[in-house]
Amino acid sequence: MALPVVDTEYLKEIDRARRHLRALIAHKNCAPIMLRLAWHDAGTYDVNTKTGGPNGSIRNLEEYSHGSNSGLKIAIDFCEEVRSKCPKITYADLYQLAGVVAVEVTGGPSVDFVPGRKDSNICPKEGRLPNATKGAQHLREIFYRMGLSDKDIVALSGGHTLGRAHPERSGFDGPWTQEPLKFDNSYFIELLKGETDGLLKLPSDKVLLDDPAFRPLVELFAKDEDAFFREYAASHKRLSELGFSPK
Ligand code: HEM
Repeated sequence: MALPVVDTEYLKEIDRARRHLRALIAHKNCAPIMLRLAWHDAGTYDVNTKTGGPNGSIRNLEEYSHGSNSGLKIAIDFCEEVRSKCPKITYADLYQLAGVVAVEVTGGPSVDFVPGRKDSNICPKEGRLPNATKGAQHLREIFYRMGLSDKDIVALSGGHTLGRAHPERSGFDGPWTQEPLKFDNSYFIELLKGETDGLLKLPSDKVLLDDPAFRPLVELFAKDEDAFFREYAASHKRLSELGFSPK
């Protein structure tokens, strides 16, 4: 599919989409699932074959029906409402913009957004996203395949400051923090505190406590929210631009 021409008209359309997304996310309280959609579209990237990545392919049944994408059709449909008002924007840009707006409107850092992503209908095979029951080696395999680092793994795991797990989607249950619609560093504070009734820790969250490279970052992000916001914004931008070189 064609590369969008990022001219004045396209930039105006991005601004309009941003406003529609802000209103929609406020109205539906759907920041968490919008962030998850952006991450699952982008997180299939393979740096070696240059396949997958933030290319809108998750809008196809073939991909959103993967087990790990359970529930994300809801976010795809929300984005479609915005697309019907802003038809020029690519799905690839729209989903990444939705992720950026979700973080921003819940109190998180501003993540720089550069438009111009191309849509693709080529869906990656199932299995490129992380499995929540596995350990540090698995997390590294998955994130290094994307071309991301240990610091990206820990900072981006802080995305679990938003939202919750749903038994009918993943088999896990509950939010990670007391305020799952607020983007802050409480994910790391809760992680260090240990088990709390009603709050969730996935095996892949707990792994961050045991690994000698991950743990110091968890400790830093728990005590210094500015440091978390800085690193998160940089990592989120990298995730949103995997395989994409802005013109
Ligand atoms: C939810 C796994 C990384 C953002 C979930 C759920 C699982 C999961 C099992 C529950 C899904 C459900 O039942 O609805 C993982 C694993 C990761 C990871 C194994 C590896 C590190 C990330 C990253 C982000 C993210 C990098 C974004 C930066 C979210 C959000 C939700 C979520 C916002 C809540 C969705 C909702 O409330 O509907 N994740 N995740 N996750 N994840 Fe992750």
